[in-house]
Amino acid sequence: MEFRKRTIRDVDVTGKIVLVRVDYNVPMKDGKVVEDMRIRASLPTINYLLDNGARKIVLISHLGRPDGEVKPEFSLEAAAGQLSALLPEKFVTFINETTGTKVKNAVNILPDGGIIMLENLRFSPAEEENSEDFAREIVEATGAELFVQDGFAVIHRAHASTDAIARILPAVAGFLVEKEVSSLEGAITDPEHPLLVIIGGAKVEDKAPMIEKFLPIADKIAVGGKIAADGYNATDDRIYVAEDFAEDENGAKLDIGDKSTDKIIEMINEAKTIVWNGTLGMVEDERFAKSSLLIAEAIGRSDAMTIVGGGDTTGFVESVLKDEPGLTFSLVSTGGGASLELLSGKELPGFEVLRNR
Ligand code: 3PG
Repeated sequence: MEFRKRTIRDVDVTGKIVLVRVDYNVPMKDGKVVEDMRIRASLPTINYLLDNGARKIVLISHLGRPDGEVKPEFSLEAAAGQLSALLPEKFVTFINETTGTKVKNAVNILPDGGIIMLENLRFSPAEEENSEDFAREIVEATGAELFVQDGFAVIHRAHASTDAIARILPAVAGFLVEKEVSSLEGAITDPEHPLLVIIGGAKVEDKAPMIEKFLPIADKIAVGGKIAADGYNATDDRIYVAEDFAEDENGAKLDIGDKSTDKIIEMINEAKTIVWNGTLGMVEDERFAKSSLLIAEAIGRSDAMTIVGGGDTTGFVESVLKDEPGLTFSLVSTGGGASLELLSGKELPGFEVLRNR
């Protein structure tokens, strides 16, 4: 299937200040990046821009949900540091603003070939409000001449940095967006059945609508994670909700139990296409990572088309792969909500707004 959008290959980047929307919404602990898959995934685009003579690169992203307030624990400074570490010949300058004179001066004094990362866009409420003024202020402060959308994981949001800004500047897709959209669209055009969707994770508010959206195409949906622990009410007999749980000393249900895990593994063994979004338990605590590990192993051994999405899930799978490199997955997506929305046939505003071929 032909990719519908223009990419950085289709435009001349030479001599330009290029604004790149990445998604560095990465897991953090004690001010440090604990899993850098999304940062590594942005390297092909950044390196291409550098190799093809882009004058300056300005990176923008969000981290977490600070709700329009400056909250230091959501700063992108550590992510910028991690990117620097991955680019041995570059130093990534971090600026703790997104607009205004400080940004303008920093871009002005940045030598050609330099990279700047701005602060968390969601420190301003204007980002999620999809404010055109905010988008213009970013463009003015950075002097950007081209916008590259490479934050696949956030293209299901119509925010200032995914929608408004792409209406102000010429806007094209980066390599990560191209790869993810092409692979995921390819996977659902004609999925081999049975299609099993496994849903877990902690963001309960996002999951119930996803389950509903998958009902028309999935043969089975298995539900674990917090949404199951909270007592999700299945509306269809194709939906299986975890029925037993592992609990902590206070009785909090923090992982699904052995019986539920075995049932889901049986479904995995019968499926021809498997989509997994959201860990089944609180994997940050080893005691509650058991079901997710067994399920990752079962999926990684399956011959089905296997797609893993969701920030926590992909991070978890990456760590499992370090210990068990023999497991294979067709696609470990950097996008959680974005991949699920795409898979369920919803339009992605941050993708649609990019220039067509
Ligand atoms: C994600 O992690 O799914 C993306 O970064 C989007 O984050 P959001 O769900 O807070 O918009």
